[in-house]
Amino acid sequence: MRGITKIYRETGLHANEDVSLSVEEREIHAIIGENGAGKTTLMKVLYGLEPPDDGNIFLRGKEVIIPNPLAANKLGIGMVHQHFTLIPSFTVAENIVLGIEPRTKGVFFDRESAVKEVGRVIEEHNFHINPRTRVSSLTVGQMQQVEIIKMLYRDVDLLILDEPTSVLTEQEIVKLFENLQRLVKAGKTCVLITHKLDEVMQISHRVTVMRKGRVEAVRYTRDVDCRELSRLMVGKSVLFDFEKKEQDTGKTVVELRDVTLLKKGQERPLLDHLSLELHAGEIVGVAGVGGNGLGELEDVITGLRHIQSGAVYHDQKDITNIGPIAMRENGLAYVPADRLFRGSSVQSTIRENMIVTNPRRFLRAGVFDQKKIQVFAEDLAKQFSIDGNPDIPMGMLSGGNIQKVILARELANKTDFIVFSEPTWGLDVAGSEFIYKKILEIRDAGSAVMLISSNLDEILGLADRLVVLYRGKMVANLRNRGVSKETIGEYMLGLKDDFPKKKADAS
Ligand SMILES: Nc1ncnc2c1ncn2[C@@H]1O[C@H](COP(=O)(O)OP(=O)(O)OP(=O)(O)O)[C@@H](O)[C@H]1O
Ligand SMILES: [Mg+2]
Repeated sequence: MRGITKIYRETGLHANEDVSLSVEEREIHAIIGENGAGKTTLMKVLYGLEPPDDGNIFLRGKEVIIPNPLAANKLGIGMVHQHFTLIPSFTVAENIVLGIEPRTKGVFFDRESAVKEVGRVIEEHNFHINPRTRVSSLTVGQMQQVEIIKMLYRDVDLLILDEPTSVLTEQEIVKLFENLQRLVKAGKTCVLITHKLDEVMQISHRVTVMRKGRVEAVRYTRDVDCRELSRLMVGKSVLFDFEKKEQDTGKTVVELRDVTLLKKGQERPLLDHLSLELHAGEIVGVAGVGGNGLGELEDVITGLRHIQSGAVYHDQKDITNIGPIAMRENGLAYVPADRLFRGSSVQSTIRENMIVTNPRRFLRAGVFDQKKIQVFAEDLAKQFSIDGNPDIPMGMLSGGNIQKVILARELANKTDFIVFSEPTWGLDVAGSEFIYKKILEIRDAGSAVMLISSNLDEILGLADRLVVLYRGKMVANLRNRGVSKETIGEYMLGLKDDFPKKKADAS
């Protein structure tokens, strides 16, 4: 790509400015840069999703025009987006062939050929997934594999992955990287957008650093280290150290008492007799390997899922199974991991997203007071340094800005307990630090904070108390003082358990 410039009309923003990028055959080329640096935009241009305002694209030395993704596919270019595009009620095979389905006599969808052809691609590239499985029953890691297979089915040889690891567990990341390395060995080329410098070091051959819509540097990975990359990304090395005030914790704000969550047709509970208190002015960090109950705890404590036994209290009032809306009325604020679907409405504007959790306060005589909404939105945007016109759809914002909008909105309501799930997924260093500061502010102001995160540095850096879940059970509940990452790891892997069940009730 040579001299690519892309200006978004709606905002007049120069998302890419005179960007040149060259990717060699059979390399893994990482693209890094802060939120909003223009990484996704550049790849959308390459994939035919956004027309460039200037610049040219060359493929093996020949200039090409890429008007749409179909044309990109035909040229051998495939992209897997940050947010998946699969249809949950369709099977793996149906999703993969979508748009280029095999047909019997050119008319009817030929399901059996689809399954067979997809099966062949899966086998050829050594994936392990059944083409007949419904996508809704897959894990996030498997869905991503389906997206990759979908591109391989279209016979692409350049695969673009936009922040593929931000939604994966540690084990899924290992698996993904094995898959990528295998694909590159088999002759494919890969562009990998990521925020995680250790991933760049681990898997890429070269790395392009973007900053504010421009290319800051291109390096062979073997010639750089994390420090230098981070300096190139943000302009200075940012150290992760939190200034955390010592403070005594207050009264119990929320209590889970003996909470059990069951799944139909499954013997082992998703949450197993979980008892836990959240105190005012305290951050409780919850750690665990994916699939051990973290997501379920998030659902229960935010009222999204009903428990089968046990109870939840807020200020000593029983609020068991009252549902998400009533939970909010009881002082809950919630910053979900799933920002785009759970956290916001992609089509609605920033302004609408800001008022959605408490629209009533903007009503005057039954109609929305637009002036009041505008003042409110502008004020929040300023406080949280959100870039973007409040009238553009939320879906157009970069990941970091979306997270800021959600946080701003959640904190604007009166709350005394707040649940964060993976608050810095997909955020860059500066964006993460902003969120960390806010989390500490909320704690210092006396709210109870639950921080559910797969990032152990984050948990160890922020939490006052550490809770570890393993197979839906609490195996640790410790004061965060001198606890090492290794120790947490042992709890997470089930090697250590501070609350072993008595033989009698351990069936
Ligand atoms: N469709 C759009 N319309 C208007 N502005 C957009 C659109 N998409 C992105 N932008 C803006 O362009 C800039 C570059 O965004 P882009 O998504 O390319 O950044 P990024 O480097 O991928 O960031 P992140 O790491 O947060 O995903 C941002 O300021 C973003 O808000
Ligand atoms: Mg992006």
